[in-house]
Amino acid sequence: MTRTVLHGASEVFVGPGERIEDGAVAIEDGRIVAVGPSAAVTREHPPENADTALDATGKTLLPGFVDSHTHALFAGDRSDEFAAKLRGKTYGEILAAGGGILRTVRAVREASDEVLLANLLGHLDAMLAHGTTTVEVKSGYGLDAETELRMLDAIARADAAHPIDVVPTFMGAHAVPEGRDADEYAERVAEEQVPAVAEQGIAEFCDAFCEEGVFSVEQSRRVLAAGVEHGLTPKVHAEELSHLGGTKLAASLGAASADHLLHATREDARALAEAGVTAVFLPGTAFGLGAAYADPAPFLEAGATIAVASDFNPNCYARSMGFATTLACVGMGLDPAAAVAAATDGGARALNRDDRGTLREGARADVAVVDAPSHVHVPYVFDTNPVETVLKDGEVAHG
Ligand code: NIG
Ligand code: FE
Repeated sequence: MTRTVLHGASEVFVGPGERIEDGAVAIEDGRIVAVGPSAAVTREHPPENADTALDATGKTLLPGFVDSHTHALFAGDRSDEFAAKLRGKTYGEILAAGGGILRTVRAVREASDEVLLANLLGHLDAMLAHGTTTVEVKSGYGLDAETELRMLDAIARADAAHPIDVVPTFMGAHAVPEGRDADEYAERVAEEQVPAVAEQGIAEFCDAFCEEGVFSVEQSRRVLAAGVEHGLTPKVHAEELSHLGGTKLAASLGAASADHLLHATREDARALAEAGVTAVFLPGTAFGLGAAYADPAPFLEAGATIAVASDFNPNCYARSMGFATTLACVGMGLDPAAAVAAATDGGARALNRDDRGTLREGARADVAVVDAPSHVHVPYVFDTNPVETVLKDGEVAHG
């Protein structure tokens, strides 16, 4: 048996609404076996008997971040679009002119399997260093069966090769390929790509970009319903640039999550809450686009579960979940504890994972050790990375 004890922490952020001052966490074989006041935990689990003991005086123990929405597998460089947006071009205009997602599609189709894997592993290293221990990664820069499968294969290989748990989402309905009709392409995704992905057996979720000028509610429904038939749980990019109805679609399908929600209404919030669909907020995207942030208040009032994720992609070059919590506080008005809970427990809920996202007894021992005395420093410190050490399944994976 492998034993680890982290003790003397200024604060243990156990989960939503649960924090312990001068706390400790004991771990056996990758699972948390005790959490509580340091004196009590170390009496039962003496540090001197542990294989690894860490004196966390002055530090905070957090559940590893669960980043539930990323497009972290890509190739190419779109930094010039950042400059174009500053000159007034919109995200939709860039996409309609064959840039944006479609440009990354061309780069991914040209990239070798080795380059794709190496790119993703590099980003995972950066995420781990910032305290992320589980990350969802979407395909969607292939837009044909062959490249979508190649992306999902790279995601599976990265999961096997890296300490971070990588959760695979198929997103053939991420954009309409150049020169194609949206209806016809959505039909191909449903009829051809979804069954091929299911046969390959390496995707868990199916996502669609339900947006004006991309996929309509009906086209998104067609793709996501085909996914459900083939065992893929739906997720929806909903109300990001306009209000189209993706949130209600997510509710009607019993999706795991509806994501973005910048233009969602109070009625949307109620529909999500009633259907038990997690609302995923991606404040980095609003920040990068210079757009108005999503308003979490109607979702919280309706009793919905909320998550905060990075949305790391070429249009939102931010891998740090700590920075996502900063933006969730400053831009969306969440308080620090709610932001940290949304980036950990909320993320786990958006991915249907009940074994992580908290430091409760029985949970996976995925722990970020923050070199600061409380969880408030996670959003408060945004110029450097306050995460010092990261444990994945009880093993030191970083630091
Ligand atoms: O979630 N909105 C669609 N997908 C991504 C952006 C992907 C890209 O621009 O490459 C998002 O923001
Ligand atoms: Fe996205």
